[in-house]
Amino acid sequence: MAVGFVVVFLVSVPLVKAAPQPNIVFIMADDYGWHDIGYHGSEIHTPHLDKLSASGVRLERYYIQPICTPSRNQLMTGRYQIHTGMQHSIILPCQPYCVPLEEKLLPQYLKEAGYSTHMVGKWHLGMYKKDCLPTRRGFDTYFGYLLGSEDYYAHTRCYHNVTHTSCALDFRDGEEVASEYKGQYSAEIFSQKAVSLIEKQDHNKPFFLYVSLQSVHEPLQVPDHYLEPYGFIEDPDRKMYAGMVSAMDEAVANITAALQRTGHWENTVLVFSTDNGGQTLCGGSNWPLRGRKGTLWEGGVRGVGFVAGPLLKQSGTVNYELIHISDWLPTFVALAGGSTNTSKPLDGFNVWPTISYGVASPRLELLHNIDPLYTNGRLCPKRRNLTLASGDSWSSFGFNVSIHAAIRSSNWKLLTGDPGCDQWFPRPGDNTSDSSQPTENPQKPVQLFDIINDPEERIDLSDEFPEVVNHLLSRLNQYQKTAVPVNFPPNDPRCDPGATGVWGPWA
Ligand SMILES: *[C@@H]1O[C@H](CO)[C@@H](O)[C@H](O)[C@H]1NC(C)=O
Ligand SMILES: *[C@@H]1O[C@H](CO)[C@@H](O)[C@H](O)[C@H]1NC(C)=O
Ligand SMILES: *[C@@H]1O[C@H](CO)[C@@H](O)[C@H](O)[C@H]1NC(C)=O
Ligand SMILES: *[C@@H]1O[C@H](CO)[C@@H](O)[C@H](O)[C@H]1NC(C)=O
Ligand SMILES: *[C@@H]1O[C@H](CO)[C@@H](O)[C@H](O)[C@H]1NC(C)=O
Ligand SMILES: *[C@@H]1O[C@H](CO)[C@@H](O)[C@H](O)[C@H]1NC(C)=O
Repeated sequence: MAVGFVVVFLVSVPLVKAAPQPNIVFIMADDYGWHDIGYHGSEIHTPHLDKLSASGVRLERYYIQPICTPSRNQLMTGRYQIHTGMQHSIILPCQPYCVPLEEKLLPQYLKEAGYSTHMVGKWHLGMYKKDCLPTRRGFDTYFGYLLGSEDYYAHTRCYHNVTHTSCALDFRDGEEVASEYKGQYSAEIFSQKAVSLIEKQDHNKPFFLYVSLQSVHEPLQVPDHYLEPYGFIEDPDRKMYAGMVSAMDEAVANITAALQRTGHWENTVLVFSTDNGGQTLCGGSNWPLRGRKGTLWEGGVRGVGFVAGPLLKQSGTVNYELIHISDWLPTFVALAGGSTNTSKPLDGFNVWPTISYGVASPRLELLHNIDPLYTNGRLCPKRRNLTLASGDSWSSFGFNVSIHAAIRSSNWKLLTGDPGCDQWFPRPGDNTSDSSQPTENPQKPVQLFDIINDPEERIDLSDEFPEVVNHLLSRLNQYQKTAVPVNFPPNDPRCDPGATGVWGPWA
């Protein structure tokens, strides 16, 4: 009888209760700048984002990639761009490639761990063949657009050949073309979709919801009523952009309210993140950071981000630990109780203890990128005539310093080649807030900054700390040895949506 008693006891009173699997909601903003959120002192009103982040953990040394496809790629793979062959640029509409199919994506890991997986919004990770679509890469459901830069109401993406500009629809529900949303503003459509998905979720099965908003990327479009609070903004682009931010703020409020109304909130980790720095050519601001979207300066890679939800142990805090977008995959898989044992080598770290409890980040180093094909394309006012020195003096470290690259290690950041538009843009509405443009730097192919003490990247210290330069060049060289060749294929004319009026897989 004693034996029977013991067995019953062990079965009915487990000593260790497995942690419940939290729902994970990841909301990504597009081209949302550092200075464009209330808690960074913006003149744009973001009451909901301010309140939600104040109840959670604001990430103030959070890094993303400088442009759309790379940030989304690293979010989905947990791996640096140099390891997927996608170190250059975005995927253009007619390029026949996507995130390599042998890469295992975040929703696949979470599905394995028992999650239902849903995506709403912008994909931009390739669509030339069906196997590249979100529904074939781990998402149970998908609703959104596959490219970038569409019209917010028509949901079309325009393209140019030598003589003509044409526009074709890019909007899908699952893999089916969704043409009935014409005229509706995307922030409203996507938040409604997210809300209805949340309402349908089962309390007995955890879910992953990736809401990849179109807001606040160009084109600058917003329903008039969102502009009402911004009569004081003179710059028409900034005013329109401010209205778009307000619409996004409301979209996030509606999604959060749905989580709370349905009781899912108690078991949800919500992350809000931009995908890259703001585009100063289209209303965005990263003040006081240097550079902008598309550059390796802090204005391109240091992003707005926060985590919210009742599962955080130290809520209401501001976090200054080094965290990168590639860290979400191992973090979420760990929260889900899943395993990355079948993955390719990850470049990300599980940063949940850092965010939730405030312990030091496991990330000591961050490779921002190495892109041998980089060219600085867009208008950059007052740009210096960049003629790089030959770089011979650095060649003994093995790394070709003409290449556009940047690496961060503790407080140090080393940049090589042309980092991109190097201006300090003035604070919006205050054209006197910055008059000191870069003149002091010689045209050196290598620059070193102490980001902790000089987050605006004003004082190049490469001459003062040659041993730091040498170390970081040797680290770049080691990374470059692990890089796979850049895959950036020419456009495939078969992509032409002219016949159907719809963008989609063609191969
Ligand atoms: C450009 O597009 C127009 C309209 O679709 C088409 O008639 C023309 O042949 C195209 N030109 C080239 C060079 O592809
Ligand atoms: C948020 O919800 C309210 C109430 O349903 C709605 O009127 C508004 O359009 C929604 N906003 C967005 C951006 O979806
Ligand atoms: C990998 O993790 C999965 C899920 O936790 C587990 O079922 C499997 O046995 C593990 N495989 C190896 C090789 O460790
Ligand atoms: C160094 O990199 C630049 C830029 O990518 C390239 O043009 C040049 O050919 C490279 N030099 C060598 C020696 O590989
Ligand atoms: C930039 O430098 C090149 C080569 O020295 C020169 O030809 C060109 O005129 C310069 N451009 C400007 C805007 O100074
Ligand atoms: C700054 O803005 C004021 C007011 O719009 C304008 O009068 C002035 O010319 C501007 N100054 C510069 C340097 O752009």
